Amino acid sequence: MSWKIRVTASGFAKASQQAQEFLRRAGCELVFPKKLGPLRADELTGTLSGMDAVLASLDHYSAEVLASPAVAQLKIIARWGVGYDAVDLRAATRRGIVVTYTPGLLDAAVADYTFALLLALARRVHEAHLVMRDTEWKISWGDDVAGKTLGIIGYGRIGKAVARRATGFDMRVLAHGPHPKPEAEKSGVQFVTLNTLLADSDFISLHAALTPENHGLIGETQLRQMKRSAYFINTARGALVDESALVRALGEGRIAGAAIDVYATEPLPPDNPLRSTPNLLLSPHQASFARDTGERVSLAAAQAVVDLMNGRRPQNILNPEVFKSPRLRAELVR
Ligand code: DGY
Repeated sequence: MSWKIRVTASGFAKASQQAQEFLRRAGCELVFPKKLGPLRADELTGTLSGMDAVLASLDHYSAEVLASPAVAQLKIIARWGVGYDAVDLRAATRRGIVVTYTPGLLDAAVADYTFALLLALARRVHEAHLVMRDTEWKISWGDDVAGKTLGIIGYGRIGKAVARRATGFDMRVLAHGPHPKPEAEKSGVQFVTLNTLLADSDFISLHAALTPENHGLIGETQLRQMKRSAYFINTARGALVDESALVRALGEGRIAGAAIDVYATEPLPPDNPLRSTPNLLLSPHQASFARDTGERVSLAAAQAVVDLMNGRRPQNILNPEVFKSPRLRAELVR
């Protein structure tokens, strides 16, 4: 058995020494496109033609893409990462395609990066760097972090990892999510309503998964509820935020600053207003891109493909119902 695997995940392309060896030893053929993901739906269909598997970036696996005859051979979408908002899971299940992801492997990397942004924002590290590059010597005063309140929206694995870091920095931690987590209190985290979190926090960090219900969760109203001295950080998904409202809030000085790693449209177009908004620290969706983490995520995604290729159910399946379907495209060893 030999499967053809398309790689669209740039994380896999850059950190997959072990994973590539593992896949080749298993008899798979890896195909790297000229352009890595995230790919739009119109770019994706041709790319997947003749492929058995994809090691997937945040590409748009829409119902139309998955219905295309060009994609008829695809048996598994193995997401390199945890977010699967760009995959139409129902359509994948209808077509007999297994979808997997790699939860738990990149929590620390994303939490570290969130904290890097928080500290940089508070202490103006990015501004100081630019001042020095401009051959000037001008001190940027910042804000204290110790003793301040961090509000975490979305208290899942990554939210909790951020909370642990915040506790080490002597911060008070508030959290909000759709399901109150009684265990949070034991680690000194107070579960509150979104309104309380927005009004009481000095730093607000988003860690919710994007769902159809929470698009634009942080909009004009929520930004107006934040303190004028508050800093806002998003390493989750761009579409959780009304970006135009954020541009206005920062432009009018209604919050102190923001750091954003994720965008409604990625890559962020060159003329997007976010690029010229004041008090905004930007980075290109790189929170999970740390080398050792990348190697582990690549290996886990590769393992999912090889498991299915060899007739076994992979771990971390997002659409387990697919295994009951007569349309399942992979053959399982019974
Ligand atoms: C994820 O895991 O979803 C990250 O955003 C990177 O892909």
